[in-house]
Amino acid sequence: MEGLDQAKLNAAVKACEFLKSNFNFIGIIGLGTGSTIKKFINVCKDLLENKIIVPSSFDTAIYLVNMGYSNIRDPITARSVDVYIDGADEVSEKLDMVKGRGGAFLREKSIALRAKTRVYVIDHSKFTGKPYLYLKPIPIEVIPAALPVVLDGVKSLGNVEAVLRMDSSKDGPVVTDNGNFIIDLRFTSPILEPAVMHERIKRIHGVVETGIFPSFLVDYVVVGYPDKTVLLQ
Ligand code: A5P
Repeated sequence: MEGLDQAKLNAAVKACEFLKSNFNFIGIIGLGTGSTIKKFINVCKDLLENKIIVPSSFDTAIYLVNMGYSNIRDPITARSVDVYIDGADEVSEKLDMVKGRGGAFLREKSIALRAKTRVYVIDHSKFTGKPYLYLKPIPIEVIPAALPVVLDGVKSLGNVEAVLRMDSSKDGPVVTDNGNFIIDLRFTSPILEPAVMHERIKRIHGVVETGIFPSFLVDYVVVGYPDKTVLLQ
């Protein structure tokens, strides 16, 4: 197995052990989206079997169904979840994060917001150790009809290139599970105050959500290496 893949697997195994030994009661578990969370689903079957699972995307829901799970609840009816577990794309020293490579960050954040505890699983390449965000573009989910307004509005953020995310499997842009577009914002300087930047972007008409997950949405991060794991909190 390739290094980063092994690191993701190690993080998934550790997160499963951590949940089993530290949480006496998990009735409802929220699940994020992506390759690391799929590893978690594969290695943590005994934890997931008798829980109500709230998936954050069509992708995760379909993956669960294909694995034989029927204990799935739509986010629309899940008022709260006991634990939310997900991957991430970039994690700073302060545990501010960027998510959204897979385009599921709107529902991911919606479930993270209603979770009592939030745990993220990443491979070590995503933990920067820096006190700011700089590594990945910031995705924003936007209402299609407002696209020109958003493209104008993001100019007020300073030096940033806005790129409409295209779908390589068809002609045209990526359409999210919510029927919206995604714009990736490539900043030319580090984001020193992620929560403030998130608020600034949210004020632009047509922006539904950003892929910035400020540290208040993060309780634990399990960082996987090829030969060890580190728990951050
Ligand atoms: C989905 O939109 C993303 O937020 C993913 O959770 C994130 O990109 C992590 O994905 P991987 O585990 O595949 O790296």
